[in-house]
Amino acid sequence: MALHIIVGGFFGDEGKGHIAGFLALRYRPWGIVRTGATNAGHTVVYGGVKWKLRAVPSGFISRGARLFIARGALVSLRVVLGEIEALGVGGRFWIDEATGIVTEEHVERERSDSYLMATIGSTGTGIGAAMVDRVMRRLRLAREFPELKPFITDTQSKLLDAVESNYTVHVEASQGYWLSLYHGTYPFVTSRDTTAAAALSEIGLGPRHVDRITVVFKAYVTRVGGGPLPGEMGFDEAVKAGWVEYGTVTGRPRRVAPFNFELARRAVMANSATDVALTKIDKLFPSASCVREWSKLPGEAKKWVESVEDRLGVAVSLIGTGEDVECTVDRSRELGLEP
Ligand code: GTP
Ligand code: IMP
Ligand code: MG
Repeated sequence: MALHIIVGGFFGDEGKGHIAGFLALRYRPWGIVRTGATNAGHTVVYGGVKWKLRAVPSGFISRGARLFIARGALVSLRVVLGEIEALGVGGRFWIDEATGIVTEEHVERERSDSYLMATIGSTGTGIGAAMVDRVMRRLRLAREFPELKPFITDTQSKLLDAVESNYTVHVEASQGYWLSLYHGTYPFVTSRDTTAAAALSEIGLGPRHVDRITVVFKAYVTRVGGGPLPGEMGFDEAVKAGWVEYGTVTGRPRRVAPFNFELARRAVMANSATDVALTKIDKLFPSASCVREWSKLPGEAKKWVESVEDRLGVAVSLIGTGEDVECTVDRSRELGLEP
């Protein structure tokens, strides 16, 4: 098995951090590469600790894994240096020499833009402004920052060598299909494409090496910021269901709607999903809480998962049953998806 891409299918925050963390622990990939930008916040809960990550791959909890930031990604200098230090991953962390660097000036430019902040509901983390500079060919890249020198490498050639040697590499994409600049609910989208194909393009690898594409959905839909959300529930109703969440990066309450098959079906097709991961099913079926085996899931939860498979036309390989990454049902083997 070479490349395994983990990508979001709704509006981000589907629990990719949970799924990527679990997969890294279980399958011990040679390397893990993060694409996207530091507007995303992934949550990983493991061994009683909760990490909120914006740059370092969620699979860092797999101690032997080499960690990479893709060439086409955009990362805040402050955030990336802070995480390397806080997580103690120096020595196995690499950033591409051409990764785009977001500075405080980009953050300020975005935060003073009322269209972006009030209408679109941007996270205000400077990613769009840095993307503008990249397109205008004036963005400074990682190789221009002495602080990053110890971590700089050519990630494209390292990852190409790895997949050519048949080592397993996990790709952690960020945000979700419907926030894609091209395919999402424009203009209420982020400043990049968020598909599996875009993740590959950011790394600089072609599709031939890809073995598995797991599209992650939560058991219900959440969205932060402006834009349409079909079936959106009132705040009180969402509180009653136990579905209210707060943004990892901005702390804003997330808007909530029931699971949406139309949105999910399009994301499955556009990403050419080999399989689907469903997180937070413990929020639909409390008796599924932290169950780790398919046979031990309550019947109604199994039935719901099977109805998702029927309606999306793709197998559900992974099921999140609690916050901790170990609270996961993994059906990869029975589905023939194991490396
Ligand atoms: P982006 O990169 O921003 O799209 O984020 P993400 O997909 O990594 O998700 P994020 O961590 O922002 O939000 C998911 C939330 O759900 C976090 O608080 C997780 O701890 C939580 N979570 C993930 N999986 C499960 C699960 O199976 N059960 C429960 N109860 N919580 C979960
Ligand atoms: P920006 O990309 O930060 O400018 O934000 C544009 C839109 O994308 C806003 O609606 C944000 O809430 C949303 N967005 C950006 N990143 C994330 C994320 O990681 N999770 C969820 N929503 C996001
Ligand atoms: Mg998030």
